[in-house]
Amino acid sequence: DGTGKFVVGGNWKCNGTIDSIDKLCASLNSGKITADVEVICAPPMVYIDRVQSKLKAPYQIAAQNCWVSKGGAFTGEVSAEMLKDANIPWVILGHSERRSLCGETNEFVGLKTKYALDTGVKVVACIGESLAQREAGDTLNVCFAQLKAIVDCVTEKDWENIIIAYEPVWAIGTGKVATPDQAQEVHAGVRKWMNENVSADVASKVRIQYGGSVNAGNCDELATKPDIDGFLVGGASLDGEAFVKICNSAA
Ligand code: G3P
Repeated sequence: DGTGKFVVGGNWKCNGTIDSIDKLCASLNSGKITADVEVICAPPMVYIDRVQSKLKAPYQIAAQNCWVSKGGAFTGEVSAEMLKDANIPWVILGHSERRSLCGETNEFVGLKTKYALDTGVKVVACIGESLAQREAGDTLNVCFAQLKAIVDCVTEKDWENIIIAYEPVWAIGTGKVATPDQAQEVHAGVRKWMNENVSADVASKVRIQYGGSVNAGNCDELATKPDIDGFLVGGASLDGEAFVKICNSAA
């Protein structure tokens, strides 16, 4: 399984107000993270500076997206250079919501991943199949195609700064969490594919998060699986107490 610390991300998506976000930061700061875990919170861009100044260690900050090239005439976008300049160490790329709602292709996500890494921003790269793809038996092939587009753009060394987040689309925001066995099966498949297509070293070290309806009640069992190296949490990351519990599932 992935070496390095268990890593839990909170993807706040397009949620919150100044008031709710201040309360969430206070709740996270007052929670006790007892596990040896890396924790990454991804607030909406307009609040990122506020959250960064409020959250204390061990919380790190991620953006939820960034642009594919150097900034400039790209209305509404945020460049990797800006993230770097603002000391935002991480960016989530290729989230299924961006793939499905904003038309981001595998190739575009691969290019964005490379650009962010070259700029000095670490990447949480999301992959995952839809329900129709799972039912058609295409789960692994879909994940491998998404990964291949990233592998084609990055170097072996770049993998030191990439986390893979496996998020089956049918489990996102639905309350239908993948069973620990279902998640483990895909994570093991991804690691095997990385072994065959990148290197044994990268495959053994890369951390693979599971995302999709993770909550305070199901995290402990998922965390026992050998190839689940962390979580990417949506809804439950907006509840400070629940999120801290999920962070501590590694202990
Ligand atoms: O990126 C995290 C996410 O897509 C999972 O969302 O609400 O099912 O935990 P949720």
